[in-house]
Amino acid sequence: MATTNGAVENGQPDRKAPALPRPVRNLEVQFTKIFINNEWNESKSGKKFATYNPSTLEKICEVEEGDKPDVDKAVEAAQAAFQRGSPWRRLDAPSRGRLLQQLADLVERDRAVLATLETMDTGKPFLHAFFIDLEGCIKTLRYFAGWADKIQGRTIPTDDNVVCFTRHEPIGVCGAITPWNFPLLMLVWKLAPALCCGNTVVLKPAEQTPLTALYLGSLIKEVGFPPGVVNIVPGFGPTVGAAISSHPQINKIAFTGSTEVGKLVKEAASHSNLKRVTLELGGKNPCIVCADADLSLAVECAHQGVFFNQGQCCTAASRVFVEEQIYEEFVRQSVEYAKKRPVGDPFDVRTEQGPQIDQKQFDKILDLIESGKKEGAKLECGGSAMEDRGLFIKPTVFSEVTDTMRIAKEEIFGPVQPILKFKNIEEVIKRANSLEYGLTAAVFTKNLDKALKLASALESGTVWINCYNAIYAQAPFGGFKMSGNGRELGEYALAEYTEVKTVTIKLDDKDP
Ligand code: NAI
Ligand code: MG
Repeated sequence: MATTNGAVENGQPDRKAPALPRPVRNLEVQFTKIFINNEWNESKSGKKFATYNPSTLEKICEVEEGDKPDVDKAVEAAQAAFQRGSPWRRLDAPSRGRLLQQLADLVERDRAVLATLETMDTGKPFLHAFFIDLEGCIKTLRYFAGWADKIQGRTIPTDDNVVCFTRHEPIGVCGAITPWNFPLLMLVWKLAPALCCGNTVVLKPAEQTPLTALYLGSLIKEVGFPPGVVNIVPGFGPTVGAAISSHPQINKIAFTGSTEVGKLVKEAASHSNLKRVTLELGGKNPCIVCADADLSLAVECAHQGVFFNQGQCCTAASRVFVEEQIYEEFVRQSVEYAKKRPVGDPFDVRTEQGPQIDQKQFDKILDLIESGKKEGAKLECGGSAMEDRGLFIKPTVFSEVTDTMRIAKEEIFGPVQPILKFKNIEEVIKRANSLEYGLTAAVFTKNLDKALKLASALESGTVWINCYNAIYAQAPFGGFKMSGNGRELGEYALAEYTEVKTVTIKLDDKDP
């Protein structure tokens, strides 16, 4: 079993600063099996697959490899748990909320374990896993816990002498397929609203990063969710993922991942049973820096916006448009930042950037970097892998990038910052909106009129003004155009996990 590198302990944290959280040393992975009916199962095929630590390239452990028969079993359990009269269906709404609160308590209790597992499996800096991923999980669980007893229909006046009202009912068995960049967080974004609305779920974590999802299974059992309410089937996309998206007894599916697979999921959903689909897909997100912006704020936000999480974010600021008057200075300061970015052991407290998730992503990023060089962008720094260091890539900045280059059109999902130049607002709006993606956009300006004009003109699900990656459990998140369908988080998410039922009662026209 793998151990953590324990570098936090070997580093020299500032003695006056509040104590930093520490990873769990020599952590043994406990949960590696398929979670169905609150029990741990072996795969029906007897197969297992390995999960690796991308930072050391060592195998962490083997996990039971699910396939269609395991998905069928999980769906059966989830369906039984959803039957009318089942313990889960009989549970009142406040108690459902309490279970979610208790789950948040246990995630908080085991936060260091979960963050350690996440860092081992993804290579993301431990402090980021602890303060960003786990913080997000806990807040999302608590936010939706609060909604459980506030999901209300309406009473509707009509043409006739009737009482007409709506009920917002759970949809049934919900499937979730999640990616490897924020493994536990993306799962909780789906799990929390699904449970708060009274659904049951079948989850498939990404094959690169199954460990935190399975650990969460143990907490779900400990909290006392009835068996079958949550089921977790680790495995691969074309097997477990396809079985979930095409399953006729799954009524809704939530997916986060590539646009390519998002299309497959939607297709499978419509060919099977027209299950409801929400998709969070790719982005090629414009970050627009006007000449009147607070320059140092804009430089820092654009830097964090693209390099955070090794660049592996659907929200990555991977098209930075800078107004010509400040272009050179912006590039100069951005390069300074990128050159100073600490890359290395994710368990070291000083590290801001770990390795990419796997060889496939690593190769894709290096290929895009090469295309940038060939197509005439100016390489300002980085531009290659770290010498002798597995999957690590140097923070890379390109200037003089133009709209037709691949690095300005394709999702890179790596530590690469393409910086483009613009002359005026109308021009930059057109260019920003020219791609098929529409997930997020950011604007840096001190001019309120300009900010609001851009906020309304940009075709994206989120617009950040003078900030970046400001994502809250209370506010909806999702994409325009090919960045997705539907919204996660906030009150809007409840609509994605409920069916609206209209009940109409004819009243007697005679006086009683
Ligand atoms: P992917 O879309 O293949 O993986 C996401 C999830 O989908 C995983 O759980 C995977 O097992 C599952 N999946 C794969 N094939 C499936 C199928 N046929 N049916 C159902 N589920 C399936 O993404 P991948 O290959 O890991 O990364 C490729 C690119 O996708 C990245 O370079 C990046 O550009 C983008 N991406 C975007 C993410 C986001 O947050 N929006 C997250 C991960 C990747
Ligand atoms: Mg792994």
